[in-house]
Amino acid sequence: MFDLKSYLNDVRAPVDQMLQHYLSAQSSATRISHAMTYSVMAGGKRLRPVLCIAAAETVGGSREAVLPLACSLELIHTYSLIHDDLPAMDNDDKRRGKPTCHVQFDEATAILAGDALLTLAFEILGTAGIQCASDDQHRWLLAIAQIASAAGFKGMIEGQMRDMAFEGTVISKPELESLHRLKTGKLIEISVGAGAMVSGASPRQQQLLQTYAQHIGLAFQVADDILNVKGDPKRLGKATGTDNIRGKNTYPALLGLAAAETLAGQLVNNALKVLDAFDKGADSLRAIARYVIERKR
Ligand code: IPE
Ligand code: IPE
Ligand code: MG
Ligand code: MG
Repeated sequence: MFDLKSYLNDVRAPVDQMLQHYLSAQSSATRISHAMTYSVMAGGKRLRPVLCIAAAETVGGSREAVLPLACSLELIHTYSLIHDDLPAMDNDDKRRGKPTCHVQFDEATAILAGDALLTLAFEILGTAGIQCASDDQHRWLLAIAQIASAAGFKGMIEGQMRDMAFEGTVISKPELESLHRLKTGKLIEISVGAGAMVSGASPRQQQLLQTYAQHIGLAFQVADDILNVKGDPKRLGKATGTDNIRGKNTYPALLGLAAAETLAGQLVNNALKVLDAFDKGADSLRAIARYVIERKR
């Protein structure tokens, strides 16, 4: 049996160490660097870096080579959380078990910390692209362009716009699916896709892994919706019941809790089926797929 717990520990340790390195390599003791470090090191699950590394290793790549890429994805994700929590957006005061960035610092600092994390991510990516072997440079450039696209107005940002625009209205199932695929799915998809891409995946491997990631990306947000209804806020590190209060469009609200749970299970099964094309080397991705919906935080 694949031991996910020790795999997660093994992968998170170098990711956290490298993130700390990137953050302290910025100007040392400024207010903005404190705010950036506060949110990044607050204790996230590191799912996107873990997926990036697992995808890389599945296609024969090395953990060390994709570490900058894995960290950049976590920086983009953390920026998106800081902004998502702002009063103008979800107005949340708890994240990763701590006061949100704008509560701990102030709104202007939180906005700028988000901006700084997003730009730092691309500084790291560009630097890694310059430093890699020249044969790999085209793959890095492609990955960087795709990450920018996934995080931008054709991806996560459009998802966030729709999430807010549709508050208090009831949208259809296809509309909700595309909202979730944009808001959360795109970054998860590219975490797998970019990890595989810079590690030399074949077009067929790339295609299969993308399909896997599309399934778990949607499943992840369905699980986030479910946890907002029935999760333990202490364990989650953030408030629950808030989607309902804000009139958010979620799977439990649209389908009911039981049907949302069934859907999440089906999506993970779809993801696992895609991985049948891989041998034991994809066991990490298999275990992560299950974890996406079994998690309690
Ligand atoms: C929460 O993401 C926000 C969503 C995109 C659903 P995570 O559940 O991955 O949050 P952390 O990184 O563990 O805090
Ligand atoms: C967050 O989605 C998505 C992004 C930050 C892009 P949610 O607003 O549903 O996630 P939580 O519940 O605040 O973590
Ligand atoms: Mg939100
Ligand atoms: Mg939110």
